[in-house]
Amino acid sequence: MNRVNSVKDLRAQVRQWRKAGERVALIPTMGNLHSGHLHLVEQAQAVSDRTVVSIFVNPMQFGAGEDFESYPRTMLSDSEKLESIATDLLFAPSVAEVYPKPQSQQTRIEVPLISDILCGSSRPGHFVGVATVVCKLFNMVLPDVALFGEKDFQQLMVIRRMVEDLCMPVEIIGVPTVREPDGLALSSRNGYLSDEERAMAPALFRILSETADAIQAGSCDFPLLETRANDALQAAGFRPDYFRIRRSDDLVEATAADRNLVILAAAHLGRARLIDNLTVNLSA
Ligand code: PAJ
Repeated sequence: MNRVNSVKDLRAQVRQWRKAGERVALIPTMGNLHSGHLHLVEQAQAVSDRTVVSIFVNPMQFGAGEDFESYPRTMLSDSEKLESIATDLLFAPSVAEVYPKPQSQQTRIEVPLISDILCGSSRPGHFVGVATVVCKLFNMVLPDVALFGEKDFQQLMVIRRMVEDLCMPVEIIGVPTVREPDGLALSSRNGYLSDEERAMAPALFRILSETADAIQAGSCDFPLLETRANDALQAAGFRPDYFRIRRSDDLVEATAADRNLVILAAAHLGRARLIDNLTVNLSA
């Protein structure tokens, strides 16, 4: 596996592949790679000739007081993991390479409405940071296809909208969430959990699943289901941020007439803020 840190070297490599008619896939990450990330790479290999993984802890998507400084940076082991699954290229730019100018002078990408709700309302500016860096990565790499996890459901939706609204010539593929055997969604932030908190953490997925089962069984008083789930999260030791049942195609509040739903949750457990979601299809 080749590793490059500059946009110039990245472009030189990708240009050769494109010239040879090869299809290039990009998997953007912030590193501290786990099996969820590696699954994205394997999915990418199935639909492309060349895979580029970016590792960049993006300061623009972290708010004041969030974990930008302490976010786990494990470049050596990440690089070994990517090598072991035959990734073609690791792009690991510095902050100065991605943002040569001060943040206040940086052009920003804002996807309206869906960026301001759920995680966007708890983390103002977060999705502007995500959309801006993903747009820049797309322009740096010029991939044919890019893969993102459904674990970050709202993020995937923001990126799909950005690509559609700005006519970006890149195909976006969403990949189902990879979980631990006890249901906990793999996340770099799971490393913040103590042993005791780690034992409590699967309750998030359990409560999402119970809510999905209730909806499948015909419950459609969504505000009541949300309140119950919030109480259950608190009883399980979490500090819930939100627990919402929404339409899966636009994240608007769901009504009893809607068939395609997504249940989204964010909750604090110790130092970690965990997010997860489950889609529910009632027409199936
Ligand atoms: P990061 O949290 O490192 O995640 C990188 C990609 O891996 C995202 O598309 C995320 O949805 C996916 N992912 C994380 N956990 C997963 C799991 N358990 N199963 C499947 N996919 C999973 O998300 C980001 O980085 C950043 O916001 C980024 C898009 C790189 C922009 O900075």
